[in-house]
Amino acid sequence: MNSDCGVEFEILAIEDSESDLALLRAYLVETPDFQSNLTSCSTLEDAIRLLAAVRFSIILLDLELPDSSQEEGLRRLRSLTRTPIVVISGHEDEKLAGRIVHLGAQDCFPKRFLNGPLLRRAIRHGIERKYLLDRITRLSTTITRLDKLDSIGSIATGLAHELRHPLTSLTLAIDYFQDQDFDEDTQQRVRNMRSSLQRATTVVTSLLDFASEAPFAPEPVPVAVLIDETLALLDTDLRAHDIDYTTTIAPGLPSVCVDRARIEQILINLVRNAIQATLTCPEQPLIAIDVTHFEGYIQIAISDNGHGINDDDLKKIFEPFFSTKRRGEGTGLGLTVAKELAELHGGVLQLMPSPSGRGCRALLSLPVS
Ligand SMILES: Nc1ncnc2c1ncn2[C@@H]1O[C@H](COP(=O)(O)OP(=O)(O)OP(=O)(O)O)[C@@H](O)[C@H]1O
Ligand SMILES: [Mg+2]
Repeated sequence: MNSDCGVEFEILAIEDSESDLALLRAYLVETPDFQSNLTSCSTLEDAIRLLAAVRFSIILLDLELPDSSQEEGLRRLRSLTRTPIVVISGHEDEKLAGRIVHLGAQDCFPKRFLNGPLLRRAIRHGIERKYLLDRITRLSTTITRLDKLDSIGSIATGLAHELRHPLTSLTLAIDYFQDQDFDEDTQQRVRNMRSSLQRATTVVTSLLDFASEAPFAPEPVPVAVLIDETLALLDTDLRAHDIDYTTTIAPGLPSVCVDRARIEQILINLVRNAIQATLTCPEQPLIAIDVTHFEGYIQIAISDNGHGINDDDLKKIFEPFFSTKRRGEGTGLGLTVAKELAELHGGVLQLMPSPSGRGCRALLSLPVS
């Protein structure tokens, strides 16, 4: 559909009779709210070739063609394209019309009863119905995905509970071995075991955070306090990687009513992600934190000049365990948990390419209390 150049519907008419085609053209005369571009062909094979090359909004199909008859053409087109089809038939056969709609045509009209308003309405309805069907299909796919994530979440948190105690015992045991006077080779093995165990413990802790049962305790907090506390916790990391960071907080911002620990958990993950993204950056690593007030939300934007993110990865960042970091460096749960926590506060978390054109921007919007 392209309303800029006046063409609203791209129509393919598959019709072998010159006079019937002329009638269709006359019926599709332009009105202010109906503009169309009609392409025609007289055989099914030509139609199939055209469909492979051009995107049509709708097909008008004559049932009797030189290379197909009755429902045969419709069946063939249905198996090749999802473009809506309106059948125009020379027969006035109710049973045939029923079979045709059953086979997936949007509508079926005997030629004798067709007129301009009816055809234009059938085209509009056909396209609209197809749009709605596509939306329903997309929504049911999303619901299935959410159901799956929900059950994966319950299984994973159940496992995390089970693993927590054995992991703590193993960590204590390895700490004991770490203090022993072994040769260098054995000490290295113990260190490797310790770091693998540390990773397992981090995954388990993140999963338990995800299903955190700690009471939700919102209180009014100035945003500046949340930012200062987050940066204080990450000070060692920021200095270790020589990162320049700036904080700009718009004057006179209202407080937000939040569970302080949970919001700081979000901010820590966002700033950590920004730090990690700038590590391979050839330029001086920069992180900018900007806080503004926009349409009833406090918006905390964390922008970096790191490696950025491609469109495919961007679609998956909130999925549990999605991480592009090297094995052992990220659990892929940070943003999943952060999004959940933002929504718990009635807020929104988004990630997008940085407006500067380099790196990423994470945007946390929290409703003003
Ligand atoms: N600032 C950023 N720049 C580029 N990519 C990012 C940024 N923030 C997140 N990502 C991408 O999103 C992925 C998921 O992030 P998330 O915080 O969920 O997990 P992680 O950082 O990989 O692991 P963890 O948070 O457990 O350390 C990252 O692996 C990375 O690919
Ligand atoms: Mg992370």
